[in-house]
Amino acid sequence: MPGDKSISHRALIFGLLAIGETRVEGLLEGEDVLRTAEACRALGAGVTREAPGRWRVTGAGIGGLSEPAGVLDFGNAGTGSRLMMGVAGSHPVTATFDGDASLRKRPMRRILDPLVRMGVSVVSEAEGGRVPLTLRGPAETIPITYETPAASAQIKSAILLAGLNSPGRTTVIEREATRDHTERMLRHFGAVVEVAAHGADGRAVTLQGQPTLRGSDVVVPSDPSSAAFPLVAALLVPGSDVTIRGVMTNPLRTGLLTTLEEMGAEIERVNERDEGGETVADLRVRASRLSGVDVPAARAPSMIDEYPILAVAAAFARGTTRMRGLHELRVKESDRLAAVAAGLAQAGVPHEIEGDDLVVHGLDGKVPGGGASIATHLDHRIAMAFLVMGLATRDPVTVDDGAMITTSFPTFIPLMRELGASIHDR
Ligand code: S3P
Repeated sequence: MPGDKSISHRALIFGLLAIGETRVEGLLEGEDVLRTAEACRALGAGVTREAPGRWRVTGAGIGGLSEPAGVLDFGNAGTGSRLMMGVAGSHPVTATFDGDASLRKRPMRRILDPLVRMGVSVVSEAEGGRVPLTLRGPAETIPITYETPAASAQIKSAILLAGLNSPGRTTVIEREATRDHTERMLRHFGAVVEVAAHGADGRAVTLQGQPTLRGSDVVVPSDPSSAAFPLVAALLVPGSDVTIRGVMTNPLRTGLLTTLEEMGAEIERVNERDEGGETVADLRVRASRLSGVDVPAARAPSMIDEYPILAVAAAFARGTTRMRGLHELRVKESDRLAAVAAGLAQAGVPHEIEGDDLVVHGLDGKVPGGGASIATHLDHRIAMAFLVMGLATRDPVTVDDGAMITTSFPTFIPLMRELGASIHDR
């Protein structure tokens, strides 16, 4: 399985902000992460690929970034662009951010609002706070305490990264805990970070500004959000017995495993171990008869990228699955709530959207599929989810565009073919 996308972006970014050399093993070489590598170079890091997945970054250091010569083009990557707004925006350089048609539709105000409070100037922006936009940073940022308006690790991370170039303490409060890779990596590179409980499900994360980050070694574990696709394929295709090795099992990323287990999935976690500061396990997955469940809204942050493939699993289950509180899906690489619903409709799966909930009435293994080609809207996870659906439907499923799959999982098609999938270009 390819390396985790969230950790891969962060490994390069921390390499840029550190003094000395950072060595990364298992970097995801997907299009999104390669854009971040390019941006790190433009801001003054030395970034070299030594072997597949093995990269070396020579840092520019906090306060030491150069002004990029051209536009920072992040392609399809929300994470790369938003985290880098925190990084470049917190330095006295002028940087312009842009991306593809999907990124140009995504809301950036959620990042710009806290950055402005930290002293960052928004020189220009596209309508509604979108890219292309240009930031000019101060000599050092103002430390703030900020409660995030949405459960978003990207917002949290952009603020903490901007807080690195601040003389004081920056605190981010989140009502629901989101993935904590930034906090873990801050500590790994030498920063002081305090994490306290906040309310029932939330956290307050405080960073002491202007630390010296030291170049470090990072081992990237396999991406649970990518593993989700062959995992659900194995559950749905009768007779399957597949082991997926070294998948990260950070509890802030395992909501899908919890949900599938509740649905009756046979998933064995084998050889659970620590690798590079994260727990990983081999997952042995056998084809299983699934039952519909009620997925609580509180679980959404721990499986936010997994709803498209969960909806596919739910289509094959017995009974109804209700996925609650999916409002954040509307602002992903596509409006994923609408895209999933449209795909289910085309594949003949009864479902409703009720407010922010998606309700799927499972067909107990008998999904027709077929019909017109499914619109992916430049969204890699919509493409992969519906291709997996096609492995178990009566008729084949067609997606309109598979190109975006390379943003997060460049080996998806050959890997699925190795497992016996028949996937054709048309
Ligand atoms: C990510 C956070 C999530 C997730 C994205 C990766 C990260 O986005 O959807 O794929 O690496 O911080 P939000 O922070 O917008 O929920």
